[in-house]
Amino acid sequence: MEQKELKKLVSAMSLEEKALQLTQYPVYELDESAEAVVTGLCDLGGIDREALWHTGTILNAPNGETVQSIRKTRREKGISDPFPFMLDVIHGYRTIYPVPLAMACTFNTALIEDCAELAATEASCDGVDVTFSPMVDLGRDARWGRVMEGAGEDPYWSGEVGKAMIRGYHRGGIACCVKHFAGYGAAEAGREYNTTDISERNLREYYLCAYRACLEEQPELFMSSFNLLNGKPILGHKEIMIDLLRKEWGFDGVVISDFGAVEELHEHGYCETGRDCARVALSGGLDIEMGSSVYASYLPELVRTGAVSEAQLDEAVLRVLELKNKLGMYENPERNTDLQKRDEVTLSKSGRAISRRAVEEGSVLLKNNGVLPLKESAKIALVGPFASTREIIGNWAGKGRIEECVPVKEGVEKLLQRAVPYASGCSWKLFDTDESGFEEAERISAQADCIVACVGEHMMNSGEAHSRADIRIPEIQRKLIAKLHKLKKPLVLVVFGGRPLVLSEVEAFADAILYVWQPGTEGGNGIANLLYGKAIPCGKTVMSFPRSSGQCPIYYNCFSTGRPKKQDMPSALSGEEWRTGYDDEYNSPLYPFGYGLSYTEFMYSDLKLSAARMKRGGKITATVNLKNVGSRDGYETVQWYIRDLFASVVRPVKELKGYEKVFLKAGEERSISFEINEELLKFYTDGGEYAAEKGAFELFVGGNSRDCLKTNFELVD
Ligand code: NOJ
Repeated sequence: MEQKELKKLVSAMSLEEKALQLTQYPVYELDESAEAVVTGLCDLGGIDREALWHTGTILNAPNGETVQSIRKTRREKGISDPFPFMLDVIHGYRTIYPVPLAMACTFNTALIEDCAELAATEASCDGVDVTFSPMVDLGRDARWGRVMEGAGEDPYWSGEVGKAMIRGYHRGGIACCVKHFAGYGAAEAGREYNTTDISERNLREYYLCAYRACLEEQPELFMSSFNLLNGKPILGHKEIMIDLLRKEWGFDGVVISDFGAVEELHEHGYCETGRDCARVALSGGLDIEMGSSVYASYLPELVRTGAVSEAQLDEAVLRVLELKNKLGMYENPERNTDLQKRDEVTLSKSGRAISRRAVEEGSVLLKNNGVLPLKESAKIALVGPFASTREIIGNWAGKGRIEECVPVKEGVEKLLQRAVPYASGCSWKLFDTDESGFEEAERISAQADCIVACVGEHMMNSGEAHSRADIRIPEIQRKLIAKLHKLKKPLVLVVFGGRPLVLSEVEAFADAILYVWQPGTEGGNGIANLLYGKAIPCGKTVMSFPRSSGQCPIYYNCFSTGRPKKQDMPSALSGEEWRTGYDDEYNSPLYPFGYGLSYTEFMYSDLKLSAARMKRGGKITATVNLKNVGSRDGYETVQWYIRDLFASVVRPVKELKGYEKVFLKAGEERSISFEINEELLKFYTDGGEYAAEKGAFELFVGGNSRDCLKTNFELVD
């Protein structure tokens, strides 16, 4: 449809109709039988239920049949306006792949894109038009429950992951929404929904990067976040929502609020009345209000009294109609309910295979003294609360069904073609103290050649509203692990978590640690393949693993201080005083960003530059020799980092600037190259310019952010 026709549609609407066009409610308000995820506290406020049939869009698509029946009822009521269904399709629709944090550890954007396409294809056949994904909030604090939805602590990599997801969703035929704009990941103390205080520099250099990168792939929507930013709620933040997003970045798509966030302007202590919430949100650049009804209740009156301009209201409504137009809904309002295709694509063999590959590539091998891969002939005991449960599908699992998820025990038994002794030992509950299952776990473990303990954090202890202050493995499980260790048998920990958990207390007990995050539908099969070497681990962690909760937030791309420690030790042990650090803890994480082992080994050597000086506008090439020195074929993710040694504002000690995931056969070696240009060296200078400053730089290359080869170069005029 032409834009001028859309404008005509807007001008034909009454003020009440316009306000409803900008209102989004969950589907269960229309159809009580519709099973839907509840994501907040919903209050219809002043609007009556009948008016809900006239809203412009709807939250949650229960299934294709309900979508069709709701559309039919609307037609019968004489409503012809297209009605997009929006849903959180976060890591799969019915075929669930690992949580986004795990996907990011694959360092494989093609795979991430394929997974997103798979999700979109399944979802679109079942009535979904828009997904609220990708979430690209920077995750530096593992206490924050929502780190599992993002791509970790690196701004550049978060953007790359977000972009791959958008391409995949578009390929699969749905629109998507970048969230949560802006800075939500900096919630103080990792406490969910908490306030954020982020300097302009910190925002631009870290927190905003990934959202901005996503714009390259033309997402249709942005979702505003819940947090206060530097004292103002995001919804009232004109500098962020209008000056930056709309004017500076030129985003002309739809901005939708998070659930209930408009009404929450009152609770924040920012708007005294509902009327004011509506005024502030609209004039702050918000189009659609999700999960509350102050727009519907007050916008008409606000326009009539001149408190907000009708032109501003019309602009927002037009953007919503433009979205429907982009979706092709004026030509085909029934798009995306192909029930026949749904049967073919849902949980298909090929979809499951992609999702299994994601488990294999996203899991991170943190430790291995040679016990892995296991021999198929070895007698193992499978223990721990996650050994046999299907509750490893992950939070935000779309329409994924727990009963369709493969538990570890099933995956292992299928691979071995025999039954394996199993005992849970204890529950996964955070405060459980019941040790009555220990004895059986110890008994079967004592009879085995090797113990595989599936431990960690339950899928509902991370995600929205699931922050934790103590991110250790729950105490009851730590006790179980200690008991198993006493049996003096090889002990493999398979650890589940929606965040990097603190593993310090159990690390020494384990001969191997395979970190599998929340792996989704194919979890058990992918994990079995990894344990038995049918797949070679290659995941690299995108969040640093803290040694203790007190180290959070911890991230590799930090600053030096004026008093760096000479050795990384708790000062109470080293005696080193008056230096940056703790008396009782190391500064370094247990496992750094980018870390992950394989069943083979890689050696880096011979780092060279094509020139030691680079002229402005020029480029130089770095090369390094990478050799697979182990006895198996495998993938390695080569990581390139840069440090600007002295600048008008201090630069981080390392910043990821590029990577390459390389496959090498056992014994094979290859020269890997990386091009450095001025663009890579730019930052916001003290003068506020985005530019590179001349001077000395360090270039690092390695298989993680800690263990790198290093060389120097100079940028000259
Ligand atoms: C709340 C969450 O913060 C957001 O990520 C999600 O998209 C919405 N609810 C809708 O379910």
